[in-house]
Amino acid sequence: MNAEAASIAEIQTGEPVEESLLSIADALRARFFASVSFAHQKAFGQFLTPPHVADLMAAMFQLRSRHVRLLDAGAGMGILSAAFVRRQLQRKMPPKRIEVTAYELDAMLLRGIEQTCEACRVACQQHGVEFSATIRNTDFIAEAAEMQRHDFFSKAPPVFDAAIVNPPYGKLSTTSDGYRLLRAVGAETTNLYTAFLNLIIGLLRPKGELVAITPRSFCNGPYFKRFRQRLLTEMSLRRIHVFESRTAAFKHDDVLQENVILHAVKGHRDSRCIRVSQSTGGHHDAGQSRTFPTTEIVSPADAEAFIHIPTSEQHLAARGQVARLEATLGRLGLAVSTGRVVAFRAREHIRQKPEEGACPLIYPCHFGGLFVTWPAERGRKPNAIREDDQTQSLTIPAAVYVLTKRFTSKEERRRIVACIYDPVRVGSQRVGFENHLNYIHASGKGLDMLLAKGLWAYLNSSVLDLYFRQFNGHTQVNATDLRNVRFPSAQQLRAIGHQIGDRGPGQDEIDQIVARELKA
Ligand SMILES: C[S@@+](CC[C@H](N)C(=O)[O-])C[C@H]1O[C@@H](n2cnc3c(N)ncnc32)[C@H](O)[C@@H]1O
Repeated sequence: MNAEAASIAEIQTGEPVEESLLSIADALRARFFASVSFAHQKAFGQFLTPPHVADLMAAMFQLRSRHVRLLDAGAGMGILSAAFVRRQLQRKMPPKRIEVTAYELDAMLLRGIEQTCEACRVACQQHGVEFSATIRNTDFIAEAAEMQRHDFFSKAPPVFDAAIVNPPYGKLSTTSDGYRLLRAVGAETTNLYTAFLNLIIGLLRPKGELVAITPRSFCNGPYFKRFRQRLLTEMSLRRIHVFESRTAAFKHDDVLQENVILHAVKGHRDSRCIRVSQSTGGHHDAGQSRTFPTTEIVSPADAEAFIHIPTSEQHLAARGQVARLEATLGRLGLAVSTGRVVAFRAREHIRQKPEEGACPLIYPCHFGGLFVTWPAERGRKPNAIREDDQTQSLTIPAAVYVLTKRFTSKEERRRIVACIYDPVRVGSQRVGFENHLNYIHASGKGLDMLLAKGLWAYLNSSVLDLYFRQFNGHTQVNATDLRNVRFPSAQQLRAIGHQIGDRGPGQDEIDQIVARELKA
C-alpha cells in the first residue's frame, strides 16, 4: 500500500486519527526517500526526523493555551507538526484551535506536507478542535528576516506560541543573500541551523516555547558565541536531551554530528534548573534524566557562555575534579596558538623530505605518543619547510612545546590528543607547525620539560576527556577551548611530569598518575 492509500485507509478505520498521524508522516518520508537522490536530500539538508524522535520532541512542550499558533520551519513532510498536534490532542483539555505555519523550500515535499496537514485536520475535527495550516513554499530565512526588519516597508511579523524544528544543517556563506538578510536584522551567523533558530527566537511571543533538534556544536566554540549569547539572554533553557551516539537520531541518514534536543521558553527567567536527559536514540530506549542547577550548565562567570551537558556519573565526577582546579593556561603564564603553516598557501616552500636549508614541518601524523617522531618515513605529508625571508614568519624558534591536534577522527579514543615537540630529538634551530595543530608555549618561548610532560599527561587524561566532552559535541578542539579549560597548578603539573619517564605511559597509567596528583 502506498503512503497516500495508507493514510486514507488509516483515517477510515474508525480509530482516533491522531494515533496514525506519525505513521502517516513516516510512510510519506519513506516514499520520499525512495524517490529522490541522496544529492537532492543533501542539497536541501533533508534529514527527516524519525517518528519516535518527533514524539519525544512534541512531548516536551508545556504550553496550555486554548489557541496555539505553531511554527514548523523547514517542515519536510510535516512530521514535527503531526507529532505536536497528536500530543496536543492527548491533553486533558485540548486547545480550541491549532494553527500551523509550515515553511518548506523544496516543492517536491509540498504534496506530502499537505497530506500530513489534512490528516491533522481530520484528527482535530474528531476532537472538536479547529485546525488550519498555512504552507509556505519559500525560503524561511528570507521571509523571516524580512518580517523582522521593523522598517517602514516591513509588515508586522506574526507571533507564534510554539516552534518545533529540525532545521537544515550546513554552512551559510558570508557572501550569500541569506547572510546579508540576517545581518540586516542583527542575526548573522554562518550556519544554517543557527540562522533558523535565531529567526525563530525573534518570531516567538513572550513565554513562547521552542523545541529544536540540532547538532551539538553550538554548545561551545567561538563561531557560535553570538548565537549562544542570544539564546541564553532571550530564552530560558528548560531541557536538553542528548543522543549517546552520533548516528542515533538519524540512523538512516548518515548524519555524523552528535545531536541534541533543546526545549526553551522565551524570556522566562524563573528557571533555576535544567533537565538533562539522554538516550541511545533507539525506538524503545526510555533514556534517563537528571536535573541540574542552571548555573552548572551555563556558568554565569563564563564570558564564552559555553553550555555544558553532563550525562553520566563519570561525567559528574570528572566535572567535580576539573572544576576544583584553579589554573588556566593564562594563569600558568602559558598561551596557545594555532600552527602558522597553511599548506596550500605555502606550497612552494614545503618539501616532502628534509633537506639542507629547510627546517622540520610538523603535522599531526608526526605525533608518536609522548614525543613527536620526525621525519615520517612513510605517509604522504611533507616533512620540511624552506627557511628563507618569506617563511621566517611561518616558523618559530625550536624549543619544547606541547602540541594538540585541532581535529580528531571519530575513531580516536580521546577528543584532546597531545604530544611534545622536543628539539633535541629532532635537531634544528627552527620549526614550523602546520595549521591543523595548536601549540602551547610561554609567551613565544619554550617550556621546561617537566612542565611539558605534566601538561602532556593531563591533556591526554581520561578525566579531562570526560570533562571536555560535556561541552564539545564535535571532533574539533579550538585554541579557545583550551584557553577555557582548568589546569592543575604548575607544581602539580611538574609533579605529574616527574612520573612520566621517556617512553610515555599507557592510558591507565596516565590516568592513575593524574588522579593521584589531583587528589593530593
Ligand atoms: C533537516 S530537514 C527536517 C524536515 C522536517 N522538519 C523533519 O523533521 O523531518 C530540513 C528541511 O528544511 C528544508 N529547507 C532547507 N532550507 C530551507 C529554507 N531556506 N527555507 C525553508 N525550508 C528549507 C529542507 O528541504 C528540509 O525539508
